[in-house]
Amino acid sequence: MDPGRILVTYATNAGTTAEVAQAVAEELGRTGASVEVLRVEEVRSLEPYAAVVVGGPMIIGWHRAAARFIRRNRRALGRVPVAYFFTAMSLTRTDHTSVDGTPVCIDPSLAKAPGRADRLSFRESYSTVVRYLRPVLRAAPEVRPVSAGFFGGRLDLFRLKWWQRLFVLIVIQERPGDRRNWPAIREWAASLRAGRLCQMETTCDPAHPEEGRADG
Ligand SMILES: Cc1cc2nc3c(=O)[nH]c(=O)nc-3n(C[C@H](O)[C@H](O)[C@H](O)COP(=O)(O)O)c2cc1C
Repeated sequence: MDPGRILVTYATNAGTTAEVAQAVAEELGRTGASVEVLRVEEVRSLEPYAAVVVGGPMIIGWHRAAARFIRRNRRALGRVPVAYFFTAMSLTRTDHTSVDGTPVCIDPSLAKAPGRADRLSFRESYSTVVRYLRPVLRAAPEVRPVSAGFFGGRLDLFRLKWWQRLFVLIVIQERPGDRRNWPAIREWAASLRAGRLCQMETTCDPAHPEEGRADG
């Protein structure tokens, strides 16, 4: 293992998460670390790396290739510092700052306040940070991520298969667009590099400056 070598690996359906992975890698590399960016399908061995970041989009659960990657490599990933990141089009704002012990860092422009404070609708309860992250943590319990970052993604109907278009229009009911918040993505990566695990100060929502409940 080379102490200065970091892997940023990602799964993608339509290319969005690849560009996010690239930005994360650029930030991680700013202090001289050697950072490689690979699709999960391209990773042959985790042996050379001192730390690993794994990212993927929410495609009816975390992208299957990302989930498969962490399941298959859970022992190796359990031996090095790991961070996960997710791209998504909707996330219901809750006050969680961690899920089952994993600190979460949420792009404030992604998280939306629920319609009613006392009860989440079915759609809102489906898209909470707990619903997104918990199955991922359970799939590879050996891995204790130092942070899980949640970022706005991109929905470009022209890049999707016909059934995916139908799914996002009818089930997800999200409008197409690019919701990537590059300062938030870069701040998260910089905070990983600095060992702070979560920071998105420049994008912090002043209405929710200190969201404080842990776990679910
Ligand atoms: C079939 C499909 C299912 C999706 N499911 C979800 C979802 O459950 N929750 C969500 O927030 N976004 C969902 N999205 C939106 C994607 O997570 C978002 O567009 C992401 O940025 C795509 O990344 P990619 O271009 O790397 O594949 C879905 C998109 C598609 C095409």
